[in-house]
Amino acid sequence: MNMKEYSRQGDEAGSAETAVTLSVNGEMHQLRISPNVVLLDALRDRLGLTGTKKGCDHGQCGACTVHLDGQAINSCLKLAVMCEGHEVTTVEGLANDAGLHPVQQAFLEHDAYQCGFCTPGQMMSATALLEDERIGTDDAAVREAMSGNICRCGAYKNILAAIQTARGQGQAAPTAGKTS
Ligand code: FES
Ligand code: FES
Repeated sequence: MNMKEYSRQGDEAGSAETAVTLSVNGEMHQLRISPNVVLLDALRDRLGLTGTKKGCDHGQCGACTVHLDGQAINSCLKLAVMCEGHEVTTVEGLANDAGLHPVQQAFLEHDAYQCGFCTPGQMMSATALLEDERIGTDDAAVREAMSGNICRCGAYKNILAAIQTARGQGQAAPTAGKTS
């Protein structure tokens, strides 16, 4: 497993940095960051994983959704230092050598986006919910489970259709480094 190291002089004036090792999409990364840096900023600004989007930055829109040990979380609300010892999966980790993840393929086939800004977060929530046996399989249950992901373009109908299509295909491909 590759180990990459990243360092920067202070994220904010006067803030002390701490060492953290993050496992992202199956790859280990060593960083020195301020304890108050959230996972979203670490992913985008330090690791260059800009597929994860910053919308509201306050846990309201779902654009920043990633998986932490297979569970969908808002990365804007999670401190990066708290993610050490856990597996982070971003939208960049969904596809594998065999091709797109079935959820990604279904989004393509159903034209489940317009501007695309919310799409990575939608797909991360969708892949997590399809693995979660506590969530019902009917349309109402899926809408409820996806209610934390806002689409300003209003692509909800096609997003729902894409998720149910991916379910019908068994979702199949495992997410990178997924533990559950
Ligand atoms: S950017 Fe995290 S919920 Fe909106
Ligand atoms: S596709 Fe534009 S915000 Fe959802």
